[in-house]
Amino acid sequence: MSTLLYHQAKALIETGIDEYVKQFDGVELPGAKICVEGKDISVDFPISKDADLYHVVNAFVTTIGQMEVKKNMGGLELIYGKTRVYINPTFGRVDLHKSGDLTSEEIDAVLQAYKISNSVKERVSPRQRLLELGLTIYDSNDGFNWDYIAGYENVKQEIRDTVLLPLQHPEGYEQIAKGTRKKYETIRPKAILFEGPPGTGKTTSARIIAGESNSPMVYVPVESIMTKWYGESERNLAEVFDACSDLENSLIFLDEIDSLATSREGGIHEATRRVLSVLLRKIDGFKPNDKTILIGATNRKQDLDSALISRFDVSIYFHLPNLEERIGIFRNYAKQLSDANLEKLAQESGEISGRNIKDVCEHCERRWVSKLLREEDIAELPPLEEYLSSLKARRENGV
Ligand SMILES: Nc1ncnc2c1ncn2[C@@H]1O[C@H](COP(=O)(O)OP(=O)(O)O)[C@@H](O)[C@H]1O
Ligand SMILES: [Mg+2]
Repeated sequence: MSTLLYHQAKALIETGIDEYVKQFDGVELPGAKICVEGKDISVDFPISKDADLYHVVNAFVTTIGQMEVKKNMGGLELIYGKTRVYINPTFGRVDLHKSGDLTSEEIDAVLQAYKISNSVKERVSPRQRLLELGLTIYDSNDGFNWDYIAGYENVKQEIRDTVLLPLQHPEGYEQIAKGTRKKYETIRPKAILFEGPPGTGKTTSARIIAGESNSPMVYVPVESIMTKWYGESERNLAEVFDACSDLENSLIFLDEIDSLATSREGGIHEATRRVLSVLLRKIDGFKPNDKTILIGATNRKQDLDSALISRFDVSIYFHLPNLEERIGIFRNYAKQLSDANLEKLAQESGEISGRNIKDVCEHCERRWVSKLLREEDIAELPPLEEYLSSLKARRENGV
């Protein structure tokens, strides 16, 4: 482990804290004190009374490695080699002492612990909190609307009925429930599952919904957050739900929840299990007046945890496109072709997804451009034969 000179370490901690504090306009946070005496370095900073002790400890343990944890005067003491950390919310301080220079891991741990100890969660907007987690929020339909998806009329209708209507007219649902239920409970679907083979428009539909419903949609790609938020996935996931329930009405889109599936070997990773249990608890905890709707998407429903599947009120199946729909999809990506030619293509393609169709068309277009650039004497836009040969190439070695 490399160490840093005292003044470098001091500068890193100070700028790290400055940058953190700067994000929150107008919020005043106390800084850290960093001192040196002979070979001994100490860093100390305040910790708010309601800070989560477990997560402060975790910041050190996950960054620095195995540490011995002891109780000490109503707080905790962490010991690792020549490093000692005292965490005491009653006294309101975190102190790190080391005989020797700090490592970059220790500096990281101090910065993380500082942020957790001085959380400004309550003081910043839910939107800001989500953006800080590195998530994308879709607000309006960036060019996507239902025309973008060819066919799938039944799927679109089901989405209108189960997702859009409850978002647009929550009161209608509440009124019925009040009239029919002995004990009031909401009848709006809270969690909806999009399932079906890859490339059938699940992710695209979610983006269209965000625009159509005028509700912000928080896009959470489960696979990538599991690696990006390694070690704190479950805490961050809980934070996503909390921030969303603070938004007026919102959609959470958990894409590729297969990443939470049991692995083929039958085992389930410990981190995955923790994320899954947070997810189940959060879905259960949706309050009746909570306008948040969860959409989950998966290509492998059969591998999902059965407890998770049971939490979804509605499941919408995205099938592979039928002949009629394949014609429509080809028309979206090769509009110059005649109806008869589009039909021919759709027949030749066999069972493939919308994404595959798009890929075939792209492959064909690229080849056509290179032919044009070689100044072959050909038509401006690719003809049927060219698409057929791209289809053939895909069948033979996958485009
Ligand atoms: N019915 C369709 N009409 C037009 N394009 C489609 C259709 N289905 C899929 N696509 C294309 O395939 C791409 C991938 O779809 P995507 O929504 O990512 O699928 P999934 O999330 O189900 O894997 C989309 O960007 C879209 O271009
Ligand atoms: Mg997808």
